[in-house]
Amino acid sequence: MTTKPGRASTWVILACGGLIVLSVALGARGLHDARLPAAQAGAKVDIQQVYLDQCSTCHGEDGRGHTAKGRKEHVKDLHSAAVQKHTDLQLLQFIEKGKGKNMDGFLSKLGPQECKQLVNYVRELGKK
Ligand code: HEC
Repeated sequence: MTTKPGRASTWVILACGGLIVLSVALGARGLHDARLPAAQAGAKVDIQQVYLDQCSTCHGEDGRGHTAKGRKEHVKDLHSAAVQKHTDLQLLQFIEKGKGKNMDGFLSKLGPQECKQLVNYVRELGKK
């Protein structure tokens, strides 16, 4: 009979320990989730991903335009001097308003911020 209370308190201690571990784990998760909305609010957009989603079907993942559409529509290599000689403003206007009859503008789809970042991305490609 003397062992029974001892055993019971062991279980109580174990249960408390378990609860503490659980609440710490949940607390950590809560913190982690709390950080997500800020990232999703676009504090930092993954511009490479935007390029891959929106532009690479024609311009190619590497920007060289070696895609079926790119070849058909004669897209220029974004690395080339012919493209890089444009000013930032000109590049921005191509991206925002489109160019020729085969590239539509992206202003309404992506907004001004992302269009500006895409100009930088095209510049980055030019350096590679
Ligand atoms: C439907 C295919 C298509 C998509 C999608 C597309 N483009 Fe284009 N892009 C073209 C074509 C075709 C041209 C050449 C237009 C011309 O000169 O007639 C072009 C031209 C350009 C130019 C100017 C280069 C030059 O001097 O000819 C830039 C910069 C550019 N695109 C960036 C982008 C970016 C950034 C995206 C994604 C937001 C994008 N494009 C999406 C087809 C596309």
